[in-house]
Amino acid sequence: MIAKTFAGLEDVLAEELRNIGCENIKPLRRAVEFHGDNIAMYKANYWCRTALRILKPVKLFNAVNEEELYKGVSEIEWWTLMDIEDTFAIDSVVNSSYFNHSKFVALKTKDAIADCFRKKFDKRPSVDTENPSVRINIRVFNDEVTVSLDSSGTSLHRRGYRIETGLAPINEVLAAGMILLSDWKRDCHFVDPMCGSGTILMEAALIANKIPPGFYRQSFGFEKWKDFDAEAWEKIKDDAIAGQQEFEHKIIGSDISGKMISISRNNIRNARMHKDIDLQASNITDYIPPAGKGIMITNPPYGERMKVEDVKSLYKKIGDTLKKNYAGYDAWIISSDLEAHKFVGLRPSRKIKVFNGPLECRFLKFSIYEGSKKFRNNA
Ligand SMILES: C[S@@+](CC[C@H](N)C(=O)[O-])C[C@H]1O[C@@H](n2cnc3c(N)ncnc32)[C@H](O)[C@@H]1O
Repeated sequence: MIAKTFAGLEDVLAEELRNIGCENIKPLRRAVEFHGDNIAMYKANYWCRTALRILKPVKLFNAVNEEELYKGVSEIEWWTLMDIEDTFAIDSVVNSSYFNHSKFVALKTKDAIADCFRKKFDKRPSVDTENPSVRINIRVFNDEVTVSLDSSGTSLHRRGYRIETGLAPINEVLAAGMILLSDWKRDCHFVDPMCGSGTILMEAALIANKIPPGFYRQSFGFEKWKDFDAEAWEKIKDDAIAGQQEFEHKIIGSDISGKMISISRNNIRNARMHKDIDLQASNITDYIPPAGKGIMITNPPYGERMKVEDVKSLYKKIGDTLKKNYAGYDAWIISSDLEAHKFVGLRPSRKIKVFNGPLECRFLKFSIYEGSKKFRNNA
């Protein structure tokens, strides 16, 4: 199978797949290949925080023109995968000199599937692009065609806990990936002092309590498949509930905007996480995190929406605040402004390239010690 993710999170996802018992794991570009049965596929959908979709290939073939593409898709016994009463949709990704348009590939695939049913039953399932019972993925790379069933349905970043968003919410898969990259061991407080709508806090709370990222989702694609094993699926969910754990430390969010705090509060209440996460409206410069060891992960406003002078001054303020208030903390900042970290005035001990959608970002670690100002100041 193929688990899709964002660039930069492939190794984290490979580790997640390993942890749920998948085999032959091979990180690719923006994806990880793995072997497993349907149970592994259910678990990958439910448990992998950094997966966007889990695809189950049904056929690989070669095609250099429309006829070969049509023939290859027609040869699949589609009636074993869906019924006439089902609806279907096709996602296509094309990177090939033989085929120029992904929409054309999707259209040919749809025709081949419809004709396949018509020939056998004189009837065909309908297309529903919004809410299909079976989502089909076709990928063409040069002359290699892979036809897969999308076992996730809607993208797995749609966790189902969010009822409101702010202006620039970070993607849930990226937020979870950042927390896993930080190697937080659930052994100290977790703080996001620019929390916006609360995505990083929510993902931290899920990790802290060992709650699967799919816990709040209404449905997954595989639940509508002909071979769906409801009993095995119920067991996976029951095991997850039995495995939940209390978190001994605090998860705290603050933001300068009272409106964002109210949005965060609504999302957190909706997910019944209000006992785990404390919130307060505050400027990052005024907020004092709990003393002792801790981790801070934050996503400051994006550089491209701000003037250079404002970026400089904000990052300088963040740096000064870290030195003043965050002794004992590992502080992680994600920024799409690749130069902004220079204004923090601390030397990052790690720099990781990640992507927020199409935006290239740096995820930077600053280890704050007593006296960081004196001997680690790089400004
Ligand atoms: C990119 S958004 C964070 C988005 C958040 N990760 C989410 O998923 O919704 C940046 C946030 O920083 C907040 N902010 C800007 N300046 C701040 C300051 N000086 N102190 C605290 N928060 C600030 C903004 O109100 C905004 O909510």
